[in-house]
Amino acid sequence: MEDTLLMIPGPTTVPKRVLDAMAQPIVNHRGPVYGEILEETTAMMSEVFQTDNKSYLLTGSGTSAMEAAIANIVEKGDKVINVVSGKFGQRLQQLTEVFGGESIEIAVPWGQAADPEEIKRVLDENDDVKALTMIHNESSTAVVNPIQEVGKIMKDYDALFVVDTVSSLAGDNVKVDEYGLDICLTGSQKCIAAPPGMAAITINDDAWKVIDSVDSPTYYLDLKAMRKSGDKSPSQTPYTPNVSMTYAMREALSMVLEEGLDARIKRHHIGAEATREAAKTLGLDLFAREGDYSNTLTAINMPEGVTDNQLRGTMRNKYQIELAGGQDHLKGNIFRIGHMGTTGLHELAMTFACLEMTLKEFGFEFESGAGVAALEDIYLKNL
Ligand SMILES: Cc1ncc(COP(=O)(O)O)c(C=O)c1O
Repeated sequence: MEDTLLMIPGPTTVPKRVLDAMAQPIVNHRGPVYGEILEETTAMMSEVFQTDNKSYLLTGSGTSAMEAAIANIVEKGDKVINVVSGKFGQRLQQLTEVFGGESIEIAVPWGQAADPEEIKRVLDENDDVKALTMIHNESSTAVVNPIQEVGKIMKDYDALFVVDTVSSLAGDNVKVDEYGLDICLTGSQKCIAAPPGMAAITINDDAWKVIDSVDSPTYYLDLKAMRKSGDKSPSQTPYTPNVSMTYAMREALSMVLEEGLDARIKRHHIGAEATREAAKTLGLDLFAREGDYSNTLTAINMPEGVTDNQLRGTMRNKYQIELAGGQDHLKGNIFRIGHMGTTGLHELAMTFACLEMTLKEFGFEFESGAGVAALEDIYLKNL
């Protein structure tokens, strides 16, 4: 069990340094020691978000930050454009509706990235739009959406730009201030490589103006309460935070910054390219449209002649490697390989060696080692 290799799009393998940090004693969450840890961690969070805004930690998974983002800006009847290109885009749309918003959906075929021109057209056609939501890295389809281009367009409109970077922050380019992201949120368990159970959100002045004007029905996820507690000295959270997870986040974010954001993102890009090349070399087809590929995970069409149970079951039971399946209508039709967090050549080489053996067991033919050799070529090219 301990040796299972997690090649799923989160949770990812957590470095020992981070696990060890969690073993530190629990401290008073209202005292100066925790205050200092919280301030240090949220400052690093803002550095990773590449913003001058303050950031807030939420004890909850990524979805808690998605809910906080929507619950604090959407009131009954508010128009919100939801770009829906997969499962997580759908989630932001559902949250919009839960909080009484009127969703204007931009439906993007699963496997493709949103088209900025289409977004501009929908913005022009609709007055009084309060916000536009987008998933940067749609983990259900392994597609990256063009947040930088859309951010440029959004500068000409009053609507807030709300972006989920749960599976991209610290693994792909997310420059909150430069791109003009008004609210940006993430989770602990993906590219940051901390355990699951903590989320983070950062909010600019335009978004705070909207939040201050909204009488939100949410209690636990009230961002105004988070700001008030965060501003205290020592800094606090409104309710008891997960102290151990704060230690984990502090350590994991330190590791991100020690590696350097650019170097870490480049490492993710190389892993993504190597995965795609290895898969193609084995005769496998990628699910996402060319050019829209995610840099943190890859979705591969399930090849004819093997079922999801056979392929992922063999990888799990024989080789102790966890791959992810498809979600909703993609169940059984794709499998996904996560290459995020600390995952690199070691893990990918092991995964492709075992994937080759699994495919051979089910009758597929290719030269042994071809996938691993394709990985090597990409890594050698990037030495
Ligand atoms: C892009 C994206 N957004 C949101 C979430 C939800 O995060 P969580 O499962 O931590 O609530 C996920 C989880 O996979 C995700 O990949």
